[in-house]
Amino acid sequence: MIDSIKLEIKNKLETYYKEKYNVDLQIVVEEPKKAELGDISVPMFAVVKTLRKPMPEIVSEALDAIKSFNLPISDIRSVGAFVNLFVDKEKLSKAILIEAITKESNYGTSEMGKDKNVTLDYSSPNIAKSFSIGHLRSTMIGNSLKLILQKCEYSTYSINYLGDWGTQFGKMIVAYKNWGDLDKIKADPINELTALYVRFHEEAEKNPALEDEAREAFRKMELKDQEYLDLWKWIREESLKESAQIYDLLDISFDSYNGEAFYNDKMDAVVDELENKGLLVEDQGAKIVNLGDDMPPALIKRSDGGSLYITRDLAAVFYRKKEYKFDKILYVVGNEQKLHFQQLKRLITKMGYDFAEEVNHVNFGLYLTNGKKASTRKGNVVKLYDVLMTAINLAKKQIEEKNPNIKNKDEIAKNVGIAAIVFADLKNFRGLDIEFNIQDAVKFEGQTGPYLQYTGVRIASILRDKEFDYNNIDESLFTKPHYFELVKLISEFKSTIERAANEFAPSVVAKYLLNLAASFNKFYSIEKINVEDEVKRNTNFALAKAIRIVLNEGLRLLGIKYLEEM
Ligand code: ARG
Repeated sequence: MIDSIKLEIKNKLETYYKEKYNVDLQIVVEEPKKAELGDISVPMFAVVKTLRKPMPEIVSEALDAIKSFNLPISDIRSVGAFVNLFVDKEKLSKAILIEAITKESNYGTSEMGKDKNVTLDYSSPNIAKSFSIGHLRSTMIGNSLKLILQKCEYSTYSINYLGDWGTQFGKMIVAYKNWGDLDKIKADPINELTALYVRFHEEAEKNPALEDEAREAFRKMELKDQEYLDLWKWIREESLKESAQIYDLLDISFDSYNGEAFYNDKMDAVVDELENKGLLVEDQGAKIVNLGDDMPPALIKRSDGGSLYITRDLAAVFYRKKEYKFDKILYVVGNEQKLHFQQLKRLITKMGYDFAEEVNHVNFGLYLTNGKKASTRKGNVVKLYDVLMTAINLAKKQIEEKNPNIKNKDEIAKNVGIAAIVFADLKNFRGLDIEFNIQDAVKFEGQTGPYLQYTGVRIASILRDKEFDYNNIDESLFTKPHYFELVKLISEFKSTIERAANEFAPSVVAKYLLNLAASFNKFYSIEKINVEDEVKRNTNFALAKAIRIVLNEGLRLLGIKYLEEM
């Protein structure tokens, strides 16, 4: 709500200058570095520059103007080039707490995305390979962004763009035909197929002709060879079953599973368009589009006529623009594909369309194990499902130590384990590489998901079966710094969510929740909550309840379940 006062000052001052002097000013409203100086500070440099009047005159005029806005302000002063304001903490705090308590999970909702569509492309594992921890980041960041954008009233459409087409299937088929054992594969499809894929690369190092065979096999698939297509379809279904286990565990769903193969019959039209627009050039038998001096050309068709990853993405982006009418499309994909998305955008522009700006590569760093990237090809892949199970088991051990008689132990352990993994990921700005330690991630203390769940559980147990009247509270308590710090954080929930939505960064919400939890735990170490005095008790309960609401809703936005007990 301090945010809303800030916004009001900004808007009203800008209107004031517009009406009085007919100038368009950008008023900045900030918070003073030191709390003694005030809660809100308006620097006047820009106004002085535009109106060319002496600073003291400008400052005193602004001071009078702001006074006339009738805001919940207890004091207003000029300090040098600034107008500093003290908000009426008592009135304001009460209003903030009541708003949170009455809106409950709707608290923090923003109208920012009203009537706007966002298409999200995330998770997108490559079938016939194990779902690796590398895809965890895309899955969790994408899911959280979907929830954050929905909280801002965007309409979302989520797509799991399965990597279900491409030369790697040619490799699979060659490997299967040479070394595959159907009974073994049926017994343990994904592991066997992964082993075959690894074997292909080992053998191809000795015998490069295998690579040509693989390309030929994929060509046959593109020409609709029935035998190969049947095999492909079966592999696809088995892979989806494996991924579904993980999505179920994480409670994640998609609006569409249309992967690369879906665009098989939609590429010719795009290639023709490139041709007609004179963009397609022959290059050693292949077809390419030159994209300028600052990036390499896009390879659209192989010399054998085979399609490429970028060809499929190009067909997909036009299909999606038409079908889902996106205002923005987000591709949650690793840093290593930066060039791919730059090329995709350049292609869109070169073709004469104006929506490249709406295409966002929501990039993220690598998952490292002992400083190295996990890779399926080399066979040292880390399986996400195994990692999740390990976290769940570790969580269960802790719960058994701390709360042996708790009911639904397995369900709670599952949610705590998942929270550990998800939060360890989302608390980092997505662009960074992550080296994470599962033992640390599962701890109930430190900057972890379980720590946030545990803070929520502490508040839930304080409030359990308590009745209180949040209208009958002692407003004067809010002038105390440890009270006001919490109210202020609560009031910043909405702007935090908006920032996360604008920056496509769940870490903004994650860091905010860590601050909130830390401030609450500090408060709780100095202040008894369930006190004798009824009015003070009401105040404390109202504060605790509002924090619990924000914490729960914030965790939900990250894809983490909040708990009553743990
Ligand atoms: N399957 C790809 C991979 O694992 C990611 C696909 C991302 N989405 C896209 N539209 N290119 O590398």
